[in-house]
Amino acid sequence: MAIDAFLPIAKIVLQYPASARVLERYDIDYCCSGGRTLAATCETEGFSVDDVVAAIEDVLEAEEPKACDWDAMSMAALCDQINATHHDYTREAFVHLTPLVAKVLNVHGERHRELSDVQRLFEALAADLLPHLAKEERVLFPSIAAIEADPNHPMARCFAGPLAVMRSEHETVGKLLHDMRIVTRGYQPPPGACTSFRVLYAGLASLAADLHTHIHLENNVLFPRVEARLANAATPASHADV
Ligand SMILES: [Fe+2]
Ligand SMILES: [Fe+2]
Repeated sequence: MAIDAFLPIAKIVLQYPASARVLERYDIDYCCSGGRTLAATCETEGFSVDDVVAAIEDVLEAEEPKACDWDAMSMAALCDQINATHHDYTREAFVHLTPLVAKVLNVHGERHRELSDVQRLFEALAADLLPHLAKEERVLFPSIAAIEADPNHPMARCFAGPLAVMRSEHETVGKLLHDMRIVTRGYQPPPGACTSFRVLYAGLASLAADLHTHIHLENNVLFPRVEARLANAATPASHADV
């Protein structure tokens, strides 16, 4: 993917919302000064345009979905993949979007009352998701790797409860995303919205899309594999307990 440095910065950000993360790192204003080209801005600010373009392309490439044969992967590898692809992305999205939600609410909240609902839902998402990711990374995924290596591992006897909790937390996230979609009218910024407003809605839409893929992968690929593994390999004692 080649970024055209002679396009206005706002246009680059609107076409590739993830590029905003790089521009913020360089403290390049894509909102009020978004009409300047990237090349001209880099020249004025003393940045190498090649470095900035390369950094943007790296971020975009990391975001591109890679085709994966989930069934060919071990469960431990699948957990690693979920961590590297979705957990890291989710944390980064919260870091990037949190100040943007506050900024857009602060500037436009008076005229666009729905922005306080956007902030409330966004904060609820963060409050639910960040501990959820930590539980998966610290407890659930290592336990899955342990029972994959040894299906009669003692952890195998107490897996039904944690999986049910994870599924229930996924449902809560799904409801918040549903409400967010309604409040933002399908992530459509109002006519004439400024670049920050549009970048915020584009970022929220990307976060929602990634979360849907992420939860689908856990609910419909990973967890059923764990359950099948336990059902196939369980001893009578672990059958009784799981
Ligand atoms: Fe996860
Ligand atoms: Fe999860």
